[in-house]
Amino acid sequence: MGNERGKQKLTSYGDAGFSRFIRQAFNRHLGYDEKDFEKPVIGICNTESEINRCHTHFGPIVDAIKRGVLMAGGIPLEFPTISLGEIFTSPTTMLYRNLAAMDTEEMIRAQPLDGVVLLGGCDKMTPAQLMGAASADIPTIMFTGGPMANGEYEGKTLGACSDCRFYWQEYRAGKIDEDELSKINASLAPTAGHCMVMGSASTIAVCTEALGMMIPEGAAVLATDNRRLYLAKETGRMIVELVEKGLTPSKIMTKNAFENAIRTLMAVGGSTNAVIHLTAVAGRLGIELPLEWFDELGQTTPFIANLRPAGKYQMEEFARAGGTPAVMKELETLLHLDEITVTGKTVGENIKDVKVSEVYRDIVRPFDDPLHKDGGIAVLRGNLAPNGAVIKPKAASKHLLKHKGRAIVFTSPQDMEKRVHDPELDITENDIMILQNAGPVGAPGMPEAGMLPIPEKLLRQGVRDMVRISDARMSGTAFGTVVLHVAPESAIGGPLGLVRTGDTVELDVEKRKLELHVPEDELERRRAEFKSPVIESRGYTRLYQEHVLQADEGCDFDFLVPEKK
Ligand code: FES
Repeated sequence: MGNERGKQKLTSYGDAGFSRFIRQAFNRHLGYDEKDFEKPVIGICNTESEINRCHTHFGPIVDAIKRGVLMAGGIPLEFPTISLGEIFTSPTTMLYRNLAAMDTEEMIRAQPLDGVVLLGGCDKMTPAQLMGAASADIPTIMFTGGPMANGEYEGKTLGACSDCRFYWQEYRAGKIDEDELSKINASLAPTAGHCMVMGSASTIAVCTEALGMMIPEGAAVLATDNRRLYLAKETGRMIVELVEKGLTPSKIMTKNAFENAIRTLMAVGGSTNAVIHLTAVAGRLGIELPLEWFDELGQTTPFIANLRPAGKYQMEEFARAGGTPAVMKELETLLHLDEITVTGKTVGENIKDVKVSEVYRDIVRPFDDPLHKDGGIAVLRGNLAPNGAVIKPKAASKHLLKHKGRAIVFTSPQDMEKRVHDPELDITENDIMILQNAGPVGAPGMPEAGMLPIPEKLLRQGVRDMVRISDARMSGTAFGTVVLHVAPESAIGGPLGLVRTGDTVELDVEKRKLELHVPEDELERRRAEFKSPVIESRGYTRLYQEHVLQADEGCDFDFLVPEKK
């Protein structure tokens, strides 16, 4: 490859002439000669996979990006990295997010690229790719595969995976039979694309757009809409211009850009997972995002996008209403409009001509007539979570937001699975379910086990929500009075691991309080008896358990994070 950056990056075989000679020979595999590589070389990181079902449709998208690159005078070269799909990756994709981030970073660094388009979509892929891009820091644009179209059953809209959970609960409660469940199953994920409620995938896509790392409207347009191919082609053009301007992720993802992303996250009622992922991406750039900042920005940002699981509509309607630019237009007075984006323009310039049609006003509400006056994520502290925990109050039951109850402890996700539906389990709807050892080190990988299932015997009595507390995460598509990300986690000696069945626990969301009512001397006794349940592992899992940071720090590896600014 002959462009300047490529020349600088490629190591020599010890003889510069021979190095050129051998590379020229291999360039001919694609029908190119040396002159072609005088142009900007654009890597297209294609994470298409038949196992990652949210990434099965990338072929035409890659072709469209390539067309854009060629039209703008660049040379597009496709390459693969790891692909993480939520549904078929065990024990959890979160265990491998950092592996995907390292893969992305190292492949960008190792190959002679002038710029890169990262193609992702499913929950952990977009944050992993952004983390890698932040560290590699060459001109980069993120492009997601887009959400699925709505599902439908007997006139009701279905959404993956809020309705996967909802209808499974109804089946467990005896409200629907197997035949109906099977018909619903057939319509839950009806097209290519990622989950179509405002779950983690949609949330991170929206945040990426608000950060300035994706083309406007890129988050919401459906996977199956031909406008996605138009946006892909434009992204191809844009990356060549970005290379010419030398605009890298560290110039785009500033502290103010993260503030824009967090405000937009709050305005769309996005997933709690975004707190961890944005913290990790910012951490790669040495930018600290304290948990309290999420809470503060949440309290001063109106919740205006009426989207499931906290609202009514799904990504299909959101796209029609204008998607992320429509929300950002409403938030205009709160945003840093001078932040530069991958379009080469500022946030303010990008949204200058955006208008939300009155027809869609119930989907994207006006700034001064919001769905709720504040945003969707609250940060709790107390002796049960000294380094914080999060809850999504708008997806919780109002009557449980202030609640004191008896703890029913499950010592691991496996213990929970074994006992939770046991008819003999001593539990009432006023109890508080506690799940231990489901955090980053303990599980390992912090699975989405935080929405503990309501015991079947209570479901059959009509109970649909209880207070649940854990050091796990929860899917962005889930709902309920669920306290997550308790830090420090139980497996490393956090107070959550000291809770015993029968203790009294208090949650007060308004006061941002999470307390364990056990005398200090008794806690001290339990602390002295504490034995870490972490079992010895090998390979990547060992690396992960030895180096992963806690939830409040983004769960990145300690050796990948530079000093905080
Ligand atoms: Fe990929 Fe939901 S399974 S986004």
